[in-house]
Amino acid sequence: MTTDSARKPRVLIVDDEEGIRSQIKWALSSLYDVLLAGDANTALEIIKSDRPDVATFDIALSSVGEDTHGMDLLVDALGVNPGMKIIMVTGNEDKQTAINAIRAGAYDYFQKPVDLDELKIIIKRALYVKQLESENKELQSKLSQGDSFQEIIGASDPMRRVFKKIGTIASSDYTVLVTGESGTGKELVAKALHARSQRQGKPFITINCGAIPDTLLEAELFGHEKGAFTDAIAQKKGKFESADHGTLFLDEIGELSLLLQVKLLRFLQDQTIERIGGNVPIKLDVRIIAATNKNLMDEVGLKAFRDDLYYRLSVITIELPPLRDRADDVVLLANYFLERFSAANNRAACTFDRKSIARMHSYEWPGNVRELENRIKRAVILAEGRVIKPSDMGFESDEPSARKPLAVVREEVEREYIMDVLRQHDWNVSRAASDLSVSRTTLYDLLEKYGIKRQ
Ligand SMILES: Nc1ncnc2c1ncn2[C@@H]1O[C@H](COP(=O)(O)OP(=O)(O)OP(=O)(O)O)[C@@H](O)[C@H]1O
Ligand SMILES: [Mg+2]
Repeated sequence: MTTDSARKPRVLIVDDEEGIRSQIKWALSSLYDVLLAGDANTALEIIKSDRPDVATFDIALSSVGEDTHGMDLLVDALGVNPGMKIIMVTGNEDKQTAINAIRAGAYDYFQKPVDLDELKIIIKRALYVKQLESENKELQSKLSQGDSFQEIIGASDPMRRVFKKIGTIASSDYTVLVTGESGTGKELVAKALHARSQRQGKPFITINCGAIPDTLLEAELFGHEKGAFTDAIAQKKGKFESADHGTLFLDEIGELSLLLQVKLLRFLQDQTIERIGGNVPIKLDVRIIAATNKNLMDEVGLKAFRDDLYYRLSVITIELPPLRDRADDVVLLANYFLERFSAANNRAACTFDRKSIARMHSYEWPGNVRELENRIKRAVILAEGRVIKPSDMGFESDEPSARKPLAVVREEVEREYIMDVLRQHDWNVSRAASDLSVSRTTLYDLLEKYGIKRQ
């Protein structure tokens, strides 16, 4: 189903009840290659050696002598094999536990007692999703057979839609507008579009419209004739001409001045440009791909961007989702960068510890994939052993998002409050009790509970 289509899909069942294991094995073995594990360590061994496609984990899994349970196993397993689809089996736990499991990367969950027909459907669907993902990988590797552009990694639903769109529009000559927050991969997508088009092998020219002052940008884009302005000591071709027969990637298009917007519009209308100081139109064959992290529609509203240019540019748009909306991709990307940077630094392959994986899942990634890439680059250099800890990636070691349980906070507040009142009454218990509207006995109980002694 995955790499070797001849073999039966592999399904791993992890449950500490032998009865449940054999019941499930009996039900599934005609369809799948069923592997069984009764504890977390055995499960991890099997995941490493047999690379199952799908696994079911008992969420309440106990492991003798250790505090490992199903949730920890989930995080460990995704670290070892991020592509595996994991289905959590819950007992009487509340739904929140199951939802937390999904947040941590589980594919789905279902409740005990096990309904075998339901389980069969869930597994079948998980395998289908896994198959789509591997087809998607194939598409990516086809994409990367173009020129020197990197793989675009992603298995989340939103990225799958992006790949599909790239596949359908790459070979056309349409103008494409790529949008998305900074670091989401806009330039990577622009290169992928070029590499899959008939223009592959021809120039791919990039220009960042936000990085160059307007007057220089005009000359950069359109070139100039000799003597067009003081510094124009010779004729110069611009980026448009350099991109002839290829693709011109206009990055940060939202920064383009209104004057240059007019010139770009003219090119989009009749495929001609004029050099500065020249009056001969030059006909060119250039495909335009533009990118922006602004909302161009807003710019149009503010009259900072021409609406007619906007409509020409946005015939086809590819919207790259922020990384925080691609939970499925985080660990996949992390492992990809880890492999790349380990190899580049001649370091033995590292792995992430459980806290790092959990941290990556809960983090918001304001700098998107670029931030992830940078954090992992740093971690590969800083990690002391072969295991990457949150601090190696520049995270505080403990999850700042981990909240104190309400009960703990209540007790802390209660203790502080009692101390305050006691101090006010000079540690006179009767007066403090009356002020707090509790009996003396109750207050004595509380003093004992909180270990409060006169200070
Ligand atoms: N899906 C992805 N797979 C692999 N690498 C990625 C992916 N998305 C982004 N990257 C990497 O992250 C970095 C940032 O990507 P890119 O430069 O394409 O982002 P961008 O959207 O153009 O950002 P900006 O708006 O800041 O220019 C690059 O090094 C790129 O290779
Ligand atoms: Mg960019």
